[in-house]
Amino acid sequence: METQIIIAVDGFASCGKSTLAKALAKSLDYIYIDTGAMYRAVTLYFLENKVNIKDEPSVMQALDDINIRFQILDKKNTTFLNGKNIEEEIRKMYVSEWVSEVATVSAVRRAMVKQQREMGQQKGVILDGRDIGTVVFPDAKLKFFMTASLEVRTQRRLTELQNQDRSLTPEAVAKNLQHRDHIDSTRDDSPLRQAKDAVVIDNSNITQEEQLAMCLALVNMRIA
Ligand code: CDP
Repeated sequence: METQIIIAVDGFASCGKSTLAKALAKSLDYIYIDTGAMYRAVTLYFLENKVNIKDEPSVMQALDDINIRFQILDKKNTTFLNGKNIEEEIRKMYVSEWVSEVATVSAVRRAMVKQQREMGQQKGVILDGRDIGTVVFPDAKLKFFMTASLEVRTQRRLTELQNQDRSLTPEAVAKNLQHRDHIDSTRDDSPLRQAKDAVVIDNSNITQEEQLAMCLALVNMRIA
């Protein structure tokens, strides 16, 4: 069997993790796994089915009923929940408002981490998230920890969301990013932390192309 190679991309909300991870996956011909989409899919299911996160039996039952899959559609990584394309829905603000609360629930994390480890059993895999380099794959071959200023992150998310909802304000977006970063960094179970061996990238003032070139150079040094 060929050796499995994992690259972990963790960091704060909307700091370009998925942009980098997708670009690296494309350049290296690796599989890309968007673990944030998995927590968003669970959140959507909980909201649609009124699952109370404090009611453990209901949470366990719901997790049994949830099936999350990724598929490439029109060249885009697309998330499916129980066979339905939910890629657009899970990016909406009402899901962002609840996802970090749902992601604090240990039973939810256990179920997602188990699936992520199974999905990682292929030769080359890049995962983006919050706890990939610290918890899911602590032995990942290469770890990136990404950050950017709140202003830059807000502007990026606003641009992404404005096609859907023109009434969104920079203040509302910034508040959501700060709220999620706070919950993600302070939860008891696998909080957002920079792994000791992660390479930190602040991309506030560099282009996507510069960021990709830097990271590919590191991949070549450490992996290729
Ligand atoms: O794209 P963005 O950085 O804004 O967020 P995301 O990657 O879609 O993740 C949404 C939320 O899922 C995060 O704010 C975390 O609460 C949670 N999450 C997590 O707890 N662990 C992960 N590995 C990935 C996401």
